[in-house]
Amino acid sequence: MQTSLYERLGGAAGIDKIVDSAIAAHLENPIIGTRFANARDLDRAKRMAKEFFAHGSSGGALPYSGKDMAAAHRGMNISEQEYLAATDDILGALEQHRIDEATRNDVLAILYSLKSAIIRA
Ligand code: HEM
Repeated sequence: MQTSLYERLGGAAGIDKIVDSAIAAHLENPIIGTRFANARDLDRAKRMAKEFFAHGSSGGALPYSGKDMAAAHRGMNISEQEYLAATDDILGALEQHRIDEATRNDVLAILYSLKSAIIRA
C-alpha cells in the first residue's frame, strides 16, 4: 500500500513543525504579516491548522474540530496575492523540513483546491 500523505509529512510531529514554521513565516511576510499579528487568537488558529493538515492528509481518519475554510476566512476580504503569499510560506516550510518534491506537490494541489473558499470568501 502507498504511504499516506500524513506519514510522508512526518505524522503529528512533522505537521507540528511544518505549521509552526509556516505561521512564523506568515508573521515575517510583508504581504500578510499584519493579518496574523492582528489575529483574534493565533494559538487557536495554529492548533486548528495542525488538526486541519492531519485531517486532510490522513484522508479524514484524524479529526478536525475547526471551521471550514470559507467560514474561517469570511469577511477578511483576502486577495489572490495574499493567498499566494500564504501558499508560498507553506511550501517554504515544507522545503525547510526536507519534505520531498512529490509530497510538496500533493500539498500544493490540496491548497489550490481551497483557493476559492479562501479568496474573498
Ligand atoms: C492557503 C491556505 C490556507 C489554509 C489551509 C488556512 C487554514 C486556516 C485554518 C485551519 C484556520 C483556523 C480556523 C479555525 O479557527 O477554526 C485559519 C485561520 C486564519 N487564517 Fe487561514 N488558511 C489559509 C490561507 C489564509 C490566508 C491567505 C490568510 C490571510 C492572508 C489567512 C488568514 C487567517 C487568519 C488571520 C486566521 C485566524 C483568524 C482569527 O483567529 O482571527 N489564511 N486558517
